[in-house]
Amino acid sequence: MPAARAVAAVRHTRATKEPLMESKKVSESRVVMAQLMNPLDANPMGNVHGGVIMRLIDTAAGAAAMRHARKLAVTASIDRMDFHHPIFVGDLVTLKASVNLAGRSSMEVGVRVEAENLVTGEVRHTNSAYLTYVALDSKYRPAAVPTLILENGEDHRRNQQARARRELRLQERKKEAVERRDG
Ligand SMILES: CC(C)(COP(=O)(O)OP(=O)(O)OC[C@H]1O[C@@H](n2cnc3c(N)ncnc32)[C@H](O)[C@@H]1OP(=O)(O)O)[C@@H](O)C(=O)NCCC(=O)NCCS
Repeated sequence: MPAARAVAAVRHTRATKEPLMESKKVSESRVVMAQLMNPLDANPMGNVHGGVIMRLIDTAAGAAAMRHARKLAVTASIDRMDFHHPIFVGDLVTLKASVNLAGRSSMEVGVRVEAENLVTGEVRHTNSAYLTYVALDSKYRPAAVPTLILENGEDHRRNQQARARRELRLQERKKEAVERRDG
């Protein structure tokens, strides 16, 4: 950890005595993961199961969230998962996960999945997914995460879109809570 950041992480505000929360760049927690698809991942026709891809997405996104928080992080929700093209046995699947938005204890992570045919070199953008993770402390309670430093236009665009999705999620959760309360 650079010296300036280490100092910021342990400095305390006079008013609250709470440690100042560290900030981290999007690039500091980005995760790139690649895996070759084999017959165990697929149906008899050679199409890779959606569940295999979902597991890889959760793994890559969870690693990015934990890298950002440097704490245990659990999957709180999966917003959407689009399957644009099939993936076949023999394809090299690459997942790129990055934190789009950091709240107090939650983080939205976006994952882009590409499949490469290693013989022809063709690369297809097969999936996109947005997942929310919550960082936990040693007693498994939601714990504060570093604020996110947006470095470029792409980071800002993803952050804006993540804010809009977070707003929708919060509205839906409020609506569901009212419906549960009113039976
Ligand atoms: C996720 C979990 C920790 C949230 O606990 P909670 O007590 O409801 O948390 P709170 O209401 O205090 O909210 C904490 C944060 O989580 C967010 N959150 C809670 N539920 C959420 C959901 N369903 N979707 C998205 N975000 C959610 C809140 O918005 C809040 O974000 P913020 O701190 O950035 O403002 C809890 O529901 C849990 O443990 N779920 C099971 C997780 C799990 O087993 N996952 C699968 C295996 S990893």
